[in-house]
Amino acid sequence: MGVEIVGYYILVVALLFRPLVCQQPNTDESFLLEFFVKMGLNPPQKYGFSGSFCSWRGVVCDDEGQNVVKLEASGVGLSGVIPDTTIGKLTKLESLDLSSNKITTLPSDFWSLGSLIFLNLSYNLISGSLSSNIGNFGHLQSLDLSFNKFSGIIPEAVSSLTKLQALNLSRNGFESSVPLGILQCLNLVSVDLSENKLNGSLPSGFAAALPQLKLLSLAENKVVGRDSDFTGMKSVSFLNLSGNIFRGSVLGVFEGVLEVVDLSRNLFQGHIPQVNLTSAFNWSNLLYLDMSENELSGELFFSGLHQFINLRHLNLAHNRFTKHHFLINVDMLTHLEYLNLSATNLVGEIPSNISGLTSLATLDLSDNHLSSHIPRFAFKSLKFLDLSHNNLKGDIPLVVIDELHHMDTFNFSYNNLSFCASQFSPKILEASFIGSTNSCPIAANPDFFRKKSPKHRGLKIALALAVSMVFLLMGLLVLAFRCRRKTRMWAVKQDSYTEEQAVSGPFSFQTDSTTWVADVKQATSVPVVIFEKPLLNFTFADLLSATSHFDRGTLLAEGRFGPVYGGLLPGGLHVAVKVLVHGSTMTDHEAARELEYLGRIKHPNLVPLTGYCLAGEQRIAIYDYMENGNLQNLLYDLPLGTQRTEDWSTDTWEDENSGIQNVGPEGSLTTWRFRHKIALGTARALAFLHHGCSPPIIHRDVKASSVYLDSNLEPRLSDFGISKIFGNGAEDEIARGSPGYVPPEFLDPESSSSSPKAPTPKSDIYGFGVILFELITGKKPVEDVYEDEKETNLTSWARGLVRTNQTSCAIDPRIRGSAPDAQIIEALKIGYLCTAKIPSKRPTMQQVVGLLKDLEQITHT
Ligand SMILES: *[C@@H]1O[C@H](CO)[C@@H](O)[C@H](O)[C@H]1NC(C)=O
Ligand SMILES: *[C@@H]1O[C@H](CO)[C@@H](O)[C@H](O)[C@H]1NC(C)=O
Ligand SMILES: *[C@@H]1O[C@H](CO)[C@@H](O)[C@H](O)[C@H]1NC(C)=O
Ligand SMILES: *[C@@H]1O[C@H](CO)[C@@H](O)[C@H](O)[C@H]1NC(C)=O
Ligand SMILES: *[C@@H]1O[C@H](CO)[C@@H](O)[C@H](O)[C@H]1NC(C)=O
Ligand SMILES: *[C@@H]1O[C@H](CO)[C@@H](O)[C@H](O)[C@H]1NC(C)=O
Ligand SMILES: *[C@@H]1O[C@H](CO)[C@@H](O)[C@H](O)[C@H]1NC(C)=O
Ligand SMILES: *[C@@H]1O[C@H](CO)[C@@H](O)[C@H](O)[C@H]1NC(C)=O
Ligand SMILES: *[C@@H]1O[C@H](CO)[C@@H](O)[C@H](O)[C@H]1NC(C)=O
Ligand SMILES: *[C@@H]1O[C@H](CO)[C@@H](O)[C@H](O)[C@H]1NC(C)=O
Repeated sequence: MGVEIVGYYILVVALLFRPLVCQQPNTDESFLLEFFVKMGLNPPQKYGFSGSFCSWRGVVCDDEGQNVVKLEASGVGLSGVIPDTTIGKLTKLESLDLSSNKITTLPSDFWSLGSLIFLNLSYNLISGSLSSNIGNFGHLQSLDLSFNKFSGIIPEAVSSLTKLQALNLSRNGFESSVPLGILQCLNLVSVDLSENKLNGSLPSGFAAALPQLKLLSLAENKVVGRDSDFTGMKSVSFLNLSGNIFRGSVLGVFEGVLEVVDLSRNLFQGHIPQVNLTSAFNWSNLLYLDMSENELSGELFFSGLHQFINLRHLNLAHNRFTKHHFLINVDMLTHLEYLNLSATNLVGEIPSNISGLTSLATLDLSDNHLSSHIPRFAFKSLKFLDLSHNNLKGDIPLVVIDELHHMDTFNFSYNNLSFCASQFSPKILEASFIGSTNSCPIAANPDFFRKKSPKHRGLKIALALAVSMVFLLMGLLVLAFRCRRKTRMWAVKQDSYTEEQAVSGPFSFQTDSTTWVADVKQATSVPVVIFEKPLLNFTFADLLSATSHFDRGTLLAEGRFGPVYGGLLPGGLHVAVKVLVHGSTMTDHEAARELEYLGRIKHPNLVPLTGYCLAGEQRIAIYDYMENGNLQNLLYDLPLGTQRTEDWSTDTWEDENSGIQNVGPEGSLTTWRFRHKIALGTARALAFLHHGCSPPIIHRDVKASSVYLDSNLEPRLSDFGISKIFGNGAEDEIARGSPGYVPPEFLDPESSSSSPKAPTPKSDIYGFGVILFELITGKKPVEDVYEDEKETNLTSWARGLVRTNQTSCAIDPRIRGSAPDAQIIEALKIGYLCTAKIPSKRPTMQQVVGLLKDLEQITHT
């Protein structure tokens, strides 16, 4: 074994010294070989340095094959001090690349390489100062000493490098000021002095003195300068002054043909809106603009922004702008990929049209005062989103949450947000949502049903099957006897009024529920969320049994968005089950969120939303059951005025102050006092939705059939907020508004441009006005009879009477005499105000409550 090693050694030595033996000393080949061996390449053959030296890897000889003119030995592992009499003797060398090695010191004869045109020593460990002998390299066109450990001054002798085009001294420890001599290098195209320790001020007129200069980087030094250093600059397109001590007006820098400008971390001042639009600078050339961490003040956004049509990167972060709203001229910045407005004193909302910035990959709006809700913006390209440290509140919209999966980084920390993102790891939740509330809708919580043991579930399924079989049979029976049932109060009431059933088209619902119920697979695994009783774990199967499989016999009403069934859930919960046809763009998740929000809204004059269920395509809202039906049914089922005496109990009149409850809803409805109570309660409910909820809730479907009477005959408004979840966009909703309740701004095509087509609180108030007319006149909003046959709807008839001062004709004969006429006529006038043609002229719901309360004081007849 020892013999083998010795043998190998002899072979190596022989190979190694063969060229030396064959070659004359003091030839380029000998210098070169010496260089490689002494710099630690043993044996050099391994690195491709064998055979004739002119064929070595990275070596180019002159035509005679005597001298090396080009040597490229980048990243081959050269290390340590370069000895004298090696490469320093390659006198014909024109191009030398020793980059990415571990060279520490240059030889003293290095500076005799007077033919060098290209020198790259970057990424080494060369220390000490740069010799003034650099001035010997009069032919040098490219000098790259970047990423070394040079220190001391940049010698003035650089002035001799008159052919120099590219100078890169970046990432060293060069000190003192930028040498004046550099201004002699008139051929410079690119100067990179970044990340050194240069200080002092720039030679005056610096940027303009070099006529070819395209790139200038002084970044990360301590250079002192002013905007005036750049006056007259013509050729520079890339300017990086980041991290220095430049002062003066930032706008003074913009001259010539700048495309990439990094002025970050300086002391520049000024107001951006002063961008001089008449000046010679063409802002449309700008691709990259970073003015972050300066002392810019005033407004951030300005009309001239539309000139920045090619901008890709904009950073204005950490300046001293005054408080201002976030406005973004989306159309003009379509190429923007990076937008950083961190700590720029932004207030107000994030504009939702920011998603018009279709190329945006980075958006940093952290450390501002942005408030309100996060808009439902959609960015396909976004990879980085920082909204931390603002005053944002409410839910993070699900569309935004869904996008986070494509992103690399996002941060919503330090706001007042809630969100549902069960799919993220605890680590991400911890870092990106600091101070936010993670609250998922109950139905979206996968743990909801995990608690149950499979054994129980099997049992439950079997039970549910058995129960539903029974109910199916019962359903059939019920179907058979349906005609009889019609004599029952509810059924009669339904049939007596057909307005709602006139609805057809995409929203028409098959009351024959078999089709969609069959679509709901595994009824026992679809949760029914009952807010107050979260532990009861109801399922869709329970709803099926409660409503006899949504049988017609349990039908309470056919609403605008689908049928309503009555039923008794286990535990004696009497509920009204509203099945809504899936028509909106909201995801199940969002709908659940919205329903849970609505479930938290409580008011004595609102029908509480008890729970919900998302079953296949259907979304089911569950309400407390209202014993006494709704206003529409009660009002129009009343016997006609002439037959009144047969129906009402005399108690009503005598015991008016205390005993309304005792006579049932129909009896009470013959007094103005009770109708006034209904009006006031309904008004209170709407005022609460409009003024007591944040954000305000627009009911969107105010009508008599939404006003119910509970077991105490208290009026309660139902269905608030529901059409938002189940409507199919604003347009559709308005087109299908309940007849007689649709405000004129939605009907008149002429005004479509001026008035928004979205429901507003004012459209609710119009609906309320119509209800008030109904309460006063006892007439249906449409298709009733009027003395003047021309009239077709209640609102224009009643308004006409007010205008012509024939108000007393309006009073429902059934309530006439139950209160001073003056009171009722005043109420009619309130209805008149509420139904004003121009939305802004209608009073607020709060004002209406006040007006209705004041009526009680009118006692004279
Ligand atoms: C010098 O070499 C480094 C590393 O190989 C390379 O990145 C750089 O572009 C070279 N410099 C010039 C001016 O070619
Ligand atoms: C100068 O060198 C640094 C470090 O090698 C490099 O990052 C930079 O791009 C170079 N500058 C120019 C203008 O090539
Ligand atoms: C610049 O730095 C050098 C050495 O680091 C120091 O001697 C000199 O005082 C500094 N000049 C200025 C103007 O700060
Ligand atoms: C300016 O230089 C700094 C420091 O080298 C660097 O971080 C920054 O990216 C540069 N700016 C541009 C636009 O290249
Ligand atoms: C704007 O530019 C015009 C023409 O270049 C010049 O006369 C005017 O003084 C400039 N205004 C400012 C505020 O710089
Ligand atoms: C600015 O430059 C663009 C091309 O980059 C050119 O189309 C435009 O006319 C220029 N605008 C002015 C005012 O010179
Ligand atoms: C935005 O700019 C600030 C200040 O320069 C910086 O600290 C922050 O990292 C930037 N954000 C992004 C996403 O680049
Ligand atoms: C974007 O929305 C803001 C307000 O939200 C508005 O002022 C601005 O004009 C909109 N911009 C565009 C291009 O739509
Ligand atoms: C955060 O929001 C909740 C509910 O919206 C509110 O009660 C609370 O005061 C808010 N906190 C802050 C710091 O704004
Ligand atoms: C989000 O921002 C906060 C506050 O600036 C910071 O503490 C947290 O680490 C950031 N999270 C991520 C994921 O960057």
